[in-house]
Amino acid sequence: MACYVTIILSIVLYLVLNLVEGAPEVPCYFIFGDSLLDNGNNNDLDTAARANYPPYGVDFPDGPTGRFTNGRNIADFLAEHLDFDHYIPSFASATGDEILEGVNYASGSAGIRNDTGSHLGYRIYLGKQLENHKVTISRIADLLGNTTLAKNHLNKCLFIVGIGSNDYINNFLMPDVYQSSHLYSPTQYATLLIQQYSQQLKELYSDGARKIALFGLPQIGCIPDQLNQHSTFFCVDSTNKAVQLFNKNLKALVDDLNTNFSDAKFIYINMYSISSAIAITLLNNPCCQISKTMPEGQCNPGKSPCLIRATHFFYDNFHPTEIGNNIATSRAYRAILPSDSYPMDIRHLVRANNLYYDDQ
Ligand SMILES: *[C@@H]1O[C@H](CO)[C@@H](O)[C@H](O)[C@H]1NC(C)=O
Ligand SMILES: *[C@@H]1O[C@H](CO)[C@@H](O)[C@H](O)[C@H]1NC(C)=O
Ligand SMILES: *[C@@H]1O[C@H](CO)[C@@H](O)[C@H](O)[C@H]1NC(C)=O
Repeated sequence: MACYVTIILSIVLYLVLNLVEGAPEVPCYFIFGDSLLDNGNNNDLDTAARANYPPYGVDFPDGPTGRFTNGRNIADFLAEHLDFDHYIPSFASATGDEILEGVNYASGSAGIRNDTGSHLGYRIYLGKQLENHKVTISRIADLLGNTTLAKNHLNKCLFIVGIGSNDYINNFLMPDVYQSSHLYSPTQYATLLIQQYSQQLKELYSDGARKIALFGLPQIGCIPDQLNQHSTFFCVDSTNKAVQLFNKNLKALVDDLNTNFSDAKFIYINMYSISSAIAITLLNNPCCQISKTMPEGQCNPGKSPCLIRATHFFYDNFHPTEIGNNIATSRAYRAILPSDSYPMDIRHLVRANNLYYDDQ
């Protein structure tokens, strides 16, 4: 009898605590990608693609952490939407049982292709991020008892992947440094990238991922770096066209993966249209003072940024300000327009708790 009372009291206490604390919408959340999501993985790497110096982090409680923006990034805002009471730690810093709630593997300048971004120095390309994830999985298996239990745990997690921008900015669009644009047309290159990405996503699936949100590429032709390079005030059409080929293939890949892996759900976030909507409402010129030496196009170390950061879309020549990240994440989580996400937004993805469901 006493035993039942204890059990019932424990259950009641658990429910009450959950209500008070607001348990997260998923037990765990893993992040793969580039500088839009990196929260410190590059800090100790030999690379120019680092952001652990002021004025990065000027609006972040811990100051410069390696986030490539003034405040929170997309990974952080999504953690808030999902009701986590903390941000997901970087792979470089995660320890102990905190990895059960997720790890952030994202690395500035990284791409789908291994060599992307290599002129800037070391980077953790997507293939390497997947290798790091296997390290995490074996740690989770140690914590939970065995690999089966680890994979069952991962089945319930949200995975987001935001990669591909650097395969353009720090590869295809640098014909003097990389061979890709001499070897392939934009159409061929987009096909090649998606083929490699597809293999990598299947690996993520075979490692237990079942709820996977893929962030498409933003309007890269409109970032300050592209306008500078082409000495124009207008978006670079050829770049935007190349990026749209990638996005079109990525959206088709989502259909393909959902058909072939019916116990998983992949979604596509339309960062292209979301970024163009944000661009209309904010200033396009970067907020911080831009460095003309390595890291070229990033903020000049130690120099004051603009005062009214909430009016700028870009913090440096590549990366959005916190307000840009905030708006983009809100729309990825809860779509405003049907075109924001496909076939559903992240809010619906995480609530789809039955893996074989047909109705959101
Ligand atoms: C890219 O890196 C992955 C993972 O580290 C490795 O397995 C693969 O062989 C590399 N590919 C090339 C073309 O170097
Ligand atoms: C993993 O551990 C669980 C719980 O202890 C057990 O039921 C299951 O048989 C184990 N699986 C393997 C493959 O060892
Ligand atoms: C899905 O399956 C079809 C038919 O077997 C195959 O042609 C296609 O390459 C698969 N796609 C992916 C992404 O695995």
